Amino acid sequence: MISTIGVLTGGGDCPGLNAVLRAVVKTAIGKYGIKVIGFKDGYRGLVTDECRELILNDVSGILDRGGTILGTSNKDNPFKFMITSKEPIEYKDMSDMCVQNLVKHGIDCLITIGGDGTLTSARDFARKGLNVIGVPKTIDNDLSATDITFGFNTAVTTATEALDKLHTTAESHHRVMVLEVMGRYAGWIALESGIAGGADVIIIPEIPYDINKICDKIIDRKSKGRNFSIIIVAEGAKPLDGDVVVAKVLANSPDPIRLGGIGNRLADEIEKNIGVETRVTVLGHLQRGGHPTPSDRILSTRYGAKAVELAVEGRFGKMVSLKGTEITEVTLEEAVGKLKQVPPDNDLIRTGRKMGLCFGD
Ligand code: F6P
Repeated sequence: MISTIGVLTGGGDCPGLNAVLRAVVKTAIGKYGIKVIGFKDGYRGLVTDECRELILNDVSGILDRGGTILGTSNKDNPFKFMITSKEPIEYKDMSDMCVQNLVKHGIDCLITIGGDGTLTSARDFARKGLNVIGVPKTIDNDLSATDITFGFNTAVTTATEALDKLHTTAESHHRVMVLEVMGRYAGWIALESGIAGGADVIIIPEIPYDINKICDKIIDRKSKGRNFSIIIVAEGAKPLDGDVVVAKVLANSPDPIRLGGIGNRLADEIEKNIGVETRVTVLGHLQRGGHPTPSDRILSTRYGAKAVELAVEGRFGKMVSLKGTEITEVTLEEAVGKLKQVPPDNDLIRTGRKMGLCFGD
């Protein structure tokens, strides 16, 4: 019998987190009479015991709001928690403290909403014997154990709108316009929005690019009277003979590398090689903000309600997952540490090639 559920949101924020929280609270209280306690700022709140009860009023009006009412953190690993940021930095395993805090509040099951880092800690808590359920989140859509993570559709929509807008300047000024989007290891955002937004060149981490192929495409378009070109590039893309562009390294972060700058690198190379004016837009965190699309609100709602159902049925150590059109579950053991990249024979890649798009190879 479950009487109290704990919930937290970890990792980078993402449209749809609030929709999951709303579904968890409404299902838990409304259908099962279960109390919900929300922890602040991801696992940090679980370590420091910063939490509050979530009642129906807390989740009223948040379905369409980006971000998370609980706050989040992508720096705090409860199994390797930074005790002090001063030198020498000290890390400590605070997982026992987390368990104590859960016991103190009478929490029977913890629902963790996050990406691979958050879910890996959830898996480790499950190994410790805790009742945990995961909900998969990331705009990158790079978790292998689910067809789609919430937040992805909103990011694709934002990037597509950006491409639509860039088209007008590209056409009017006869320029090359480069849009840099997120996607560290997987190019799903660039691929889907590139197809939806009519990009001429799509560059993703899975296909290392040859700058000459990109320049050839621009020249070929020009020779056919198309005096502009649109390029979309994922931040994790790299040339055949080079590496990714690192924007900064965050000291003391469990995930320290921040990518960014590949758009400018491409533009410099294009201008140098063929002398066509090339401008860059970096979409950045605009992709992670704003209202979730209807599709993300629906997916988030289904995930949240399913997570509570799993808790009530005592099916712990699982992550909710979308397979085809069905919401199902996989074990947290299967869910983490496996990246879902764009396969070379992906249908959108094949479709793009049929349409004459350039993938930089
Ligand atoms: O994993 C999601 C993501 O948005 C990546 O696409 C991006 O590289 C990273 O997070 C950025 O993280 P931060 O907000 O910490 O800079």
